[in-house]
Amino acid sequence: MTKIGVFDLAVRYGKLTAIANLTFSVAEGERVFISGPNGAGKSSLLLAISGDVAAAHGRIEMDGEILSGLGSENVARRGLSMVPEGRRIFGGLSVVENLMVGTGLRRDRSAVAEDLEIVFDAFPILRERAKASAGALSGGQQQMLAIARALMTNPKVMLVDEPSLGLAPKVVDDVYDRLCHLQKLRGLTLIIVEQSSARAARVGGRMLLMRGGKIVADGDAAGFAADTLLTEAYFGEQT
Ligand SMILES: Nc1ncnc2c1ncn2[C@@H]1O[C@H](COP(=O)(O)OP(=O)(O)OP(=O)(O)O)[C@@H](O)[C@H]1O
Ligand SMILES: [Mg+2]
Repeated sequence: MTKIGVFDLAVRYGKLTAIANLTFSVAEGERVFISGPNGAGKSSLLLAISGDVAAAHGRIEMDGEILSGLGSENVARRGLSMVPEGRRIFGGLSVVENLMVGTGLRRDRSAVAEDLEIVFDAFPILRERAKASAGALSGGQQQMLAIARALMTNPKVMLVDEPSLGLAPKVVDDVYDRLCHLQKLRGLTLIIVEQSSARAARVGGRMLLMRGGKIVADGDAAGFAADTLLTEAYFGEQT
């Protein structure tokens, strides 16, 4: 079943076209990586889906319902949550205070308490450091907090922008292990921006390659990593 549908999407910032004529769909429970060079439009795509930036053209649907024009708060209410680039945690607030941000939209208070337990079970370090200032956490712990915070809105779809950024490979392993575990547990649909095609192949899933605001390739992540020529052509990268 199609969970997210993007049809002929365009995103513009003034005269600059960040995304043009972009069409793809994501099935329920699927894990899709979005890769591509700096400025390819990866973040703009996530921001358009989450309703944080307006589409200049085209439409975005979730479960067949049009999201375009609803605004990010209403999109979040429908079960779509974003882990933004750079994490955007509130350094001056405690870990648990960060987790409660966003649950204000929810009326199911007992379910919020249950979700806090689920999140603490998935990220025991956050339970340990619940009262600590979020700004005092390591980069990896802050990334886990950003993911955990997004989960607190009880999403069905999660968009994650560059979770690996600035983290040591072992920490990235840990972040992805937990993310994949949570995907299974909650039946999440995941769209993840990930610069490393090798990493995407290792984690497993589908991969969309973007360049210049367009999707230039779409297929199994493992297949892309094996295709050195393709990787070199699009990224100028040696694998
Ligand atoms: N708020 C903005 N105002 C103006 N231009 C923007 C804005 N955000 C992004 N852009 C431009 O839109 C294009 C796409 O940017 P975007 O951030 O979506 O790319 P990206 O693939 O996420 O890049 P990166 O790998 O650096 O995160 C770039 O040319 C960028 O400079
Ligand atoms: Mg980006």
